[in-house]
Amino acid sequence: MVMKLQSTNKKALHITAIETSCDETAIAIIEVSGRERSFRVLSNIVLSQVAMHAEWGGVVPNLAKREHEKNLPVVLLKAIQESNFSISPPKADKPRADKLQILNSILEKNEELRNQFQKHILLLKKPAIDLIAVTQGPGLEPALWVGVNFARALSVLWDIPLVGINHMEGHILSALIKQKEISPPKISKSKIKNSLSAKTYTLNPVCCPALALLVSGGHTELVLIRKPLQYKIIGETRDDAAGEAFDKVARILDLGYPGGPAISREASLVPRHPDQLEYPVFKLPRPMMHTKDYDFSFSGLKTAVLYLVRDLEKQGENIKNVRPMIAKEFQDAIVDVLVTKTIRAAKEYKVKMVLLGGGVAANKELQRRLSEEIQKNCPKSYFWCPTSDLTGDNALMMAVAALFRSKKASKTIWKTLKPDGNMRL
Ligand code: KG4
Ligand code: ZN
Repeated sequence: MVMKLQSTNKKALHITAIETSCDETAIAIIEVSGRERSFRVLSNIVLSQVAMHAEWGGVVPNLAKREHEKNLPVVLLKAIQESNFSISPPKADKPRADKLQILNSILEKNEELRNQFQKHILLLKKPAIDLIAVTQGPGLEPALWVGVNFARALSVLWDIPLVGINHMEGHILSALIKQKEISPPKISKSKIKNSLSAKTYTLNPVCCPALALLVSGGHTELVLIRKPLQYKIIGETRDDAAGEAFDKVARILDLGYPGGPAISREASLVPRHPDQLEYPVFKLPRPMMHTKDYDFSFSGLKTAVLYLVRDLEKQGENIKNVRPMIAKEFQDAIVDVLVTKTIRAAKEYKVKMVLLGGGVAANKELQRRLSEEIQKNCPKSYFWCPTSDLTGDNALMMAVAALFRSKKASKTIWKTLKPDGNMRL
């Protein structure tokens, strides 16, 4: 893994990454000073839209698009300020007419983004950014388009190379990012939920063969990594993703959105639940747990919860009373399947390292069980999972992926770069 990029100031290289694949508007700026696997995070902002989508019970693509358009330029400005880049005098000369025309055509379908771009970015003095990375896919296309068009416009405005990054590669690498010194994150007044001041991070090396279990709202994949940066999906979900199942079951149980954290919170009530022994032990299926392949299927599990709840309601049961037990059994079922298949693949491919990534990687029970089973079954293998601020979508993981994909970057890619909602590793 070699980082090869020309820095404008010869001392340090600055990568700005933009992530808008779903409902988080995220921008990170990292500084790489040549020492491999070590970098500084100058800014890492995640502006969550979760509260807004919660009202609709899930992510609404066009709302996500609108919010990204409204917020991206302001978030970039904040990231630049947090990075202490010199942008004074704040006013640059107005770009030439031909450049303005290109910018207008790039932002033509994103009217709000164009307004915000004109207001906050167009006349900003060029900051010391050497590379712009943007999530190209997979994800919600209307949301991806906003990030991609914003990145294309920045590349043109400041004449900076651009590269498109696979979101799932970001989730894989997120497990390897470790902060050298831990200090509490700055809590700001706004909705911005993660904003760290500059800290040095390191990237743990990948020991191959390695295996990554990626579990998010849109994906459930087992990825074999025979060589660094070479990925082979050996199994994936045939219907719902693990995170999607958490979200749908949370809706059935009236626990709100996002479902993952709500279900694990509910499940954690079980040991302390006063009446737990009075309730029957619910048993849910473990779909495809023992099939020979590495595929998954979670939609039947969701349906099983739906039928269970209907039956209990028919019997006059107040679901709220048994909800912790159902949530726990559902979580156990998902964890059982994920862990069983991951361990079997880890043994078959004799992997030296198991990585966990994606929003569902935040699940403590999954982390605990996977770690325990790896120790038991593959005692020589490492197990890495992301720190809690990097399990969900963020731009820091995309900036790190850009370190390894910088060879693909160019100043002319803006002409052709398009999002791909179904992009594969
Ligand atoms: O990676 P991510 O932030 O977005 C996608 O790329 O999809 O994943 C979001 C998913 C949601 O389905 C959410 O319910 C799930 O991650 N999630 C969890 C937990 N925290 C978030 N699932 C289980 N347990 C959690 N603690
Ligand atoms: Zn994700």
